Amino acid sequence: MSHIHWDDSYSVNSGLLDDHHKLLFNLFNRYCDALHRREGIKALADLFAEVIEYADTHFRVEEILMQRSGYPFIKSHKQAHGFLLHRAQRLLARINSGDQVACDQAAEFIRNWLEKHIRGVDAQYAPYVAEQLIDDVAV
Ligand SMILES: [Fe+2]
Ligand SMILES: [Fe+2]
Repeated sequence: MSHIHWDDSYSVNSGLLDDHHKLLFNLFNRYCDALHRREGIKALADLFAEVIEYADTHFRVEEILMQRSGYPFIKSHKQAHGFLLHRAQRLLARINSGDQVACDQAAEFIRNWLEKHIRGVDAQYAPYVAEQLIDDVAV
């Protein structure tokens, strides 16, 4: 699995949310490095848990901003976040039980999520989430 690099095609027109996404890309790249170096289940589980934890925080910030901006499709977007976290937790449980296949599947899962969710789902709120709404929810 190769690294992914953030570029403008991933931008959601918000410096804060773009920074969150860039950090998720970095975590994914670290996960890939650990996978290639065969660092072992524990290291992979820790990194994947970090992805999940950061994503959870990021999702909450996105949801607050969507709420404040009157974004009309917040319900389905929140469902998509819930679905991603649920799938991620299930994969993490398999990794923690020593399932090597799940380690590879997790890399594929994160990559798909970053490429498809940001460009396909997050991109839809970009015109609604104005920068001035962001100041007091920055994390
Ligand atoms: Fe996002
Ligand atoms: Fe999202």
